[in-house]
Amino acid sequence: MSARLLLRAARLYDPALGLDRVADLLAEDGHVAAIGRGLPAGGAEVVEGGGLWALPGFIDLHVHLREPGETHKEDMTTGALAAARGGFTAVVAMANTRPPVDSPAAVADALARARQARALGGARVWPTAALTRGLMGETPTDAAALRAAGAVALSDDGRPVRSAAVLFAALKGARQAGLCVLDHAEDPDLCADGVAHDGPVGRSLGLPPRPAAAEAAQAARDVALAAAAGARLHLQHVSTAAAVEVVREARRRGLPVTAEATPHHLLLTEEAVAAFGAAARVNPPLREEGDRQAVWQGLVDGVIDAVATDHAPHAPEEKAAPFASAPPGISGLDSAVALLFAEVRAGRLPLAAFVDRFAYGPARVLGRPPERIAEGAPLALTLLDPEAPWEVDPDRFASRGRSTPFRGRRLTGRPAGILLPKEEGACP
Ligand code: DOR
Repeated sequence: MSARLLLRAARLYDPALGLDRVADLLAEDGHVAAIGRGLPAGGAEVVEGGGLWALPGFIDLHVHLREPGETHKEDMTTGALAAARGGFTAVVAMANTRPPVDSPAAVADALARARQARALGGARVWPTAALTRGLMGETPTDAAALRAAGAVALSDDGRPVRSAAVLFAALKGARQAGLCVLDHAEDPDLCADGVAHDGPVGRSLGLPPRPAAAEAAQAARDVALAAAAGARLHLQHVSTAAAVEVVREARRRGLPVTAEATPHHLLLTEEAVAAFGAAARVNPPLREEGDRQAVWQGLVDGVIDAVATDHAPHAPEEKAAPFASAPPGISGLDSAVALLFAEVRAGRLPLAAFVDRFAYGPARVLGRPPERIAEGAPLALTLLDPEAPWEVDPDRFASRGRSTPFRGRRLTGRPAGILLPKEEGACP
């Protein structure tokens, strides 16, 4: 977009500000300059908002962009473009690249690639750094140096930390550096070589089990360690009723514990494994209906702070392998907003909660001010077309990752792009 942009006659909706009106929005120099009726274009690039909704910029707390090392699955640019197409103004990239992002130099490299992706029209990419060196779970990384280099949080996502002693030390380092720890809580010993939920479907298919207790036990341990270390802990991709209870209890005690849930854990059960095979293989695995309902209830009542995709692209030939040897992961950036908006339309999720879990909640987790639709605020908007019919067709995804158990779902309403300033630095 040019330095001046006029969004004309869109529904501007920012529930935290009590804003809900059809109006024009003029952006100048990366900021919202004016909101009102009949604003003059005056040479600005015009976006016709007719029928569109403009919402505070959505943030995805959990994506795998595979660069460096596995760019045949995704790279920073394809991932950032998929994020923008999917309605996200920013995504938080996990550190489990090859090599992992575990040094200030690697963070600087990720930020340089992110700037290039942004210049091509992608969403902002905010890198995390590894919590332990090489994601090996043995030696905590230098949290202060990683923060100084630009890491927005620390995470060993994909490789849960086995040792309580190592995690405790890493949590103390994170607290001193003022960084949140994004925690993949699944006990590695209980998971062992498990590939599917330990439930009726997984058992009937003879798949090595990954029990629900692996998540609840590790989540409870990690909350206890974070409380003792005084650290901020964010539980990633919560998938079980028991783990939702761990979060609920931590919050009741006033601990700085937050949590996210993915569209697949919110909307699917292990039945999808029978229906879609390896496209439904993911860690943590899809669970049973009681778990799904508990996670959904957590999202509705706010115990779950954020919807995050855990966008985990893999190459088509890798996902074509038999279930137990296909890599875990679902491509989520293109479809997440449309999938959850369908739940808003169905009356199962209030619109204000939808905006909170995609925009304000993720910002809270990161300790950032939320994006705002207000004069003077930095420009970061998610546009939504609430009436557009849309089918989840991975062949049309912007992401290189084409594997999703939502393939073929017909939805009404979808993201219609994002508005971010073009100038680098105007909207960090
Ligand atoms: O399904 C998953 N895939 N879960 C993870 O934790 C890691 C991710 C990946 O990197 O592919």
